[in-house]
Amino acid sequence: MEDAKEEIRARLAVEDVVGQYIELKRAGRNFKGHSPWGTDRTPSFMVSPDKGIWHDFSSNKGGDIFTFVMEMEGCSFREALEKLAQQAGVELKRYSNDDRKQAEHRARLYEALELAAKYFQFCLTKNKTVMQYVFYKRNMNKKTVENFRIGYAPQSGDALKNFLKKRGFSQKEMNDAGLLNQYGGDLFRGRMTIPLMDANGRVIGFTARILKEDKNSPKYLNTPETILYNKGRHIFGLSQAKDTIRRTEFVVVVEGNMDVISSHQAGVCQAVATAGTAMTEMHLKSFARMTKDIRLAYDGDEAGIRAAERAISMASKFGIYLSVIDDYHGCKDADELIQKDPKLWQEAVQNYRPALEWLLEKYITKYDLKTEKGFQEYATEAKRLIDQIDPADTILREKYERIVADRLGISLEAFRAKKVATPGKKLKKANVVKSTTVVSRAEKNLAALALHEVDLGDFEARKFDKNELELIFEEQYGDWKKEDLQKEANNLIAKALKERREAERRELEEQIRQAEEKGDEALENELLQKMNKLLRS
Ligand code: UTP
Ligand code: MN
Repeated sequence: MEDAKEEIRARLAVEDVVGQYIELKRAGRNFKGHSPWGTDRTPSFMVSPDKGIWHDFSSNKGGDIFTFVMEMEGCSFREALEKLAQQAGVELKRYSNDDRKQAEHRARLYEALELAAKYFQFCLTKNKTVMQYVFYKRNMNKKTVENFRIGYAPQSGDALKNFLKKRGFSQKEMNDAGLLNQYGGDLFRGRMTIPLMDANGRVIGFTARILKEDKNSPKYLNTPETILYNKGRHIFGLSQAKDTIRRTEFVVVVEGNMDVISSHQAGVCQAVATAGTAMTEMHLKSFARMTKDIRLAYDGDEAGIRAAERAISMASKFGIYLSVIDDYHGCKDADELIQKDPKLWQEAVQNYRPALEWLLEKYITKYDLKTEKGFQEYATEAKRLIDQIDPADTILREKYERIVADRLGISLEAFRAKKVATPGKKLKKANVVKSTTVVSRAEKNLAALALHEVDLGDFEARKFDKNELELIFEEQYGDWKKEDLQKEANNLIAKALKERREAERRELEEQIRQAEEKGDEALENELLQKMNKLLRS
């Protein structure tokens, strides 16, 4: 793994990788360009070919080719590694025979899905009724239909299956791609189809809407989870939205896929959706890689409130600014509002409020503060919510504590003193190395691996913030096999021990220098002996 990384680094020049995204000009030993995240007037983005790193002075981000691709593509470390490995012509180690077969299989599924998308797009143009539904009932224009690759799955029951069979795809491949139902026929029949795409625009599945709602079948039918489609990870509309999100530095999370499509047509191209309202940590993490300004456009109903609450507790982990858009003018969703007037939606996404403020207000309408019970319940809910704020952020905490205390007509101290049980005290930061301390990657990764039952033998991992370690683990090892984790740990241990020895040596060197300065010969001799022993060990 480390070897593969080093090999890729050796083969790819940092300025070439960055140069694929940003125009760079030579400036002495370095290269300079405009920040892809900031709006710098003078170039503030630097690339150092000697060091193999980049640094953006307008956003204070920096790193190597891998972190750069992660930032630009909004992808995971693994994905960046794979992408760059391909560019460098490096075969990743884990591509043993089994894995290669698996990769080939995946490639076949991508092909089948891409063909299916094309086929559905073609079928749409041949069906007048569906054309009418798409263009008149749903008000999509030609550009939108093309951009989101809207299509139609024929009614017959085996149209797609026959089409793919003729192109050489097996029943198993179609089934693994999630295109068939349990009886082996077409899953999608007589529905408008919307492809689900990954961040790079590759088709990984479909969602398909019934044309006339009826009680006996679901409104939307979705591809089941497959090797390619992971519901908890997928973000609908990301490939179409990512550039705008990065440029304008905010993302709008809506509830439905149709809301995303309408939003883009209305010029709000920052819109994406997670499946239903179930936002996962993986979703949030993907957003956080692109922007810290996340605006939720959920319903104000119970489900929407729960979703916002869940998001808030996760958001504090990633340093995200979470806000809520709820200016729907009485419409039930973004799509409906846009049908009424696209301008209203454009305004709504700029009219956002901190999620915490919004939630506290929702609680007020939920509880009757005039009754003892309502008063207590509100105080408890509010306290629980405020406890989610990072304790280090004293200003933000006080702001909300004050709002609630005033609302309840009690003192700030009384509210602060109130104890509530917090589900999962993830935010307490005691006894850990501060994340700003520079520590080696090996030490941190080993601590992360230790959390996941990887055997470190006698090696004693250092202590770090658990959240940070979890983040590191998900980021770098999320999809690794157990034996690969063990191999990685063994390599890292060797590296960390070397680093520790090196640190000890430097420390000794410094002590010797000081002893020399003071003229303490006895101490100096003692230290020199220690040094000798260290160097021979
Ligand atoms: P909605 O019922 O709000 O649908 O479900 P919508 O997005 O407004 O769709 P239109 O405007 O009626 O066409 C919100 C989301 O929940 C999921 C879909 O992802 C949908 O976008 N859903 C809903 C399903 O997966 N299956 C269903 O049967 C219904
Ligand atoms: Mn809708």
